[in-house]
Amino acid sequence: MKTAVFMGSPRVKGNTQLLLEEAVRGATEKGAEITLFELNKMNIRGCQDCGGCVETGECIVKDDMEKVYSAIRESSRFILASPIYFAGVSAQAKTMIDRCQSFWHEKYMLKRPLPQGPD
Ligand SMILES: Cc1cc2nc3c(=O)[nH]c(=O)nc-3n(C[C@H](O)[C@H](O)[C@H](O)COP(=O)(O)O)c2cc1C
Repeated sequence: MKTAVFMGSPRVKGNTQLLLEEAVRGATEKGAEITLFELNKMNIRGCQDCGGCVETGECIVKDDMEKVYSAIRESSRFILASPIYFAGVSAQAKTMIDRCQSFWHEKYMLKRPLPQGPD
């Protein structure tokens, strides 16, 4: 099963990475095919609320989110690991989540159900 994994902490070898590695180890033992995104190392702009996805459900901002969009479409499992920063997820994780607005538009406004993974 394809699994998209998001590392939302900027801290190398910190608590989030430690826990995430354990989760990935368990998933891999069960046959998961992992695609890892280290969000702090990626070039992902915040959502601009530009409306560029309204007509098509596709984000028009071209940056590293393009790889994330593809992986999300192809995956049937997801792991998001983030430290708690001021009672929320890290900025790195939140930025990625906000950019999923295009999926929201695709599903809820354009009424195009997102493809389900194989399992
Ligand atoms: C900017 C910042 C904000 C934080 N806010 C919270 C918080 O609201 N609640 C909490 O329990 N811990 C908070 N923490 C502590 C971190 O969540 C905690 O140290 C976490 O284990 C860090 O993960 P890491 O080891 O992957 O960096 C905060 C830490 C930082 C740097």
